[in-house]
This record gives sequence, structure tokens and C-alpha cells, in this order.
Amino acid sequence: MFIDTHSHLNFSPFEADIKEVISRAKETGIIAIINVGADLSTSKRAIELAQKEDLCYATVGIHPTSTNNLQDKDYQKLEDLAQKKKVVAIGEVGLDWFHNQVSRKIQKESFERQILLAERLGLPLIIHNRDANSETLAILKEKKIRKGVMHCFSGDINFAISVLSLGLYISFTGNLTYKKNESLRTVAKEIPLGKILLETDCPYLPPQPKRGKRNEPGFLLYTAEELAKIKGVSLQELGETTTKNAQDLFKLQRLPRRQKT
Ligand code: NI
Repeated sequence: MFIDTHSHLNFSPFEADIKEVISRAKETGIIAIINVGADLSTSKRAIELAQKEDLCYATVGIHPTSTNNLQDKDYQKLEDLAQKKKVVAIGEVGLDWFHNQVSRKIQKESFERQILLAERLGLPLIIHNRDANSETLAILKEKKIRKGVMHCFSGDINFAISVLSLGLYISFTGNLTYKKNESLRTVAKEIPLGKILLETDCPYLPPQPKRGKRNEPGFLLYTAEELAKIKGVSLQELGETTTKNAQDLFKLQRLPRRQKT
């Protein structure tokens, strides 16, 4: 049993065949899928899916690359959405110095504003960080953030240690399986299993055997198998521990009962 803690079934590539995608995910032992918002409309869509599909949960948030031209009323809408049923986090939010279509100043302001929202509502954060390690850490430290996950981790061991010292979780995607990513596997080996989450970030980042294809929650198993190998544990133990981690962080209600294996 596994939880895909960061998925985008709320994005357009899944419009046509979402039922099939979800049933394939169930067949591979996925018991919950957290669909992550990146702006107001994808946050809304994540909530719609959570209302329709037992397996699905939602998060709401404005991705750093979509933070231009936001007004107070947009943040108010976000706050309203964040209080809907089955919304389990604020995200994905953070800093992205790689895609620089939004000024750093605006990104920082929006990140801080959404951190405050998460605190007000007692929700954890799903953090997106691209090429902004030190600035991201500085903000998280200043705001004393303890509940959250550094999504799609691709940093080095020093960054991992800093993230863990804040009490945050670290989440791995299909990039852990990439042939050339030995350095990331070395970092994963050092991170306690009790602080690791699994995610697909689908439709992006398909694992090695599915590269070039649209990623989907059912492909989480490839990343899980890789991580089990790295950590020297059985796939079952890996599934149980990462599921417990996700449950501790996101407090998923109505989680389907554990299947006997
Ligand atoms: Ni994402």
C-alpha cells in the first residue's frame, strides 16, 4: 500500500481518462492520491476530484511561477478553497529561481503569505524549491515552519540535513530512478525512512522505465522499488512506513482500510 503524496490528476493531460488512471493506480496498491494545486483553477479542480473520488485528496496553493498579478481577492478565494473538505495542505508553494518569469520579490511575498495561511488553518506545506535552497530555508526558519514536505527533492546531503533539522519531510519522485542520478540515491540512503514520502508529480517526471511517457500514480511503484533497494528493506516495509509518514503529516480522513496481502 502506497500514497502518492504529490500528483496532478487535476491537470489537463488527465481530463480524458481519469477513471482508468485511478483504477490502474488501485491495482498497484495506491490507497490515496493527493492532487496538488498550482493556481486557483487547478486548486478548485483538485477539490472537485476529491469530492468525486474516494481515493483523492486535495491541496490548494499558488505555484511560485504563477504568482504574478495576484490580488487580495485571489488570496481570499484561496483561503475559502483551503477550508473545503479533504483539503490536506497548502501547496505547492515556494521559490523558483530557475523559471524566472516572476520577480524574486513577488515570489517571496506570495510564499510568505501562503505560509501564514497554512499556519492560520493548521495545515502542512508542500514546498516547491528550484535553485533557491538558501532563500527557501531562510524563510522556513524565520517563520518557524515545522509541518511540511520538501517536494521532489533533488538537493545534496547538506541541504537534506537542513531540511530535516527543521522537522520537515523529504519527498522523492521518479527522478530517484534515473540512471544518471546516483548522487540523489546516495543522499536518499542517508535520510531516515521515517522522514521520507513518495510522490509521482505526474504527469511530469516518469520513472526510468516509463521515460518519455505521461507519468501517472500507478508508476509510483518504480520509485518505491528503487527506494526499497537503496534502504535495504522489503517493498512492504517501505510501503507501510511511507504511508504512515504521509498519514502523520496530512492526516487523511476516510483512508481506505488496509488491504490484507
Ligand atoms: Ni508538482
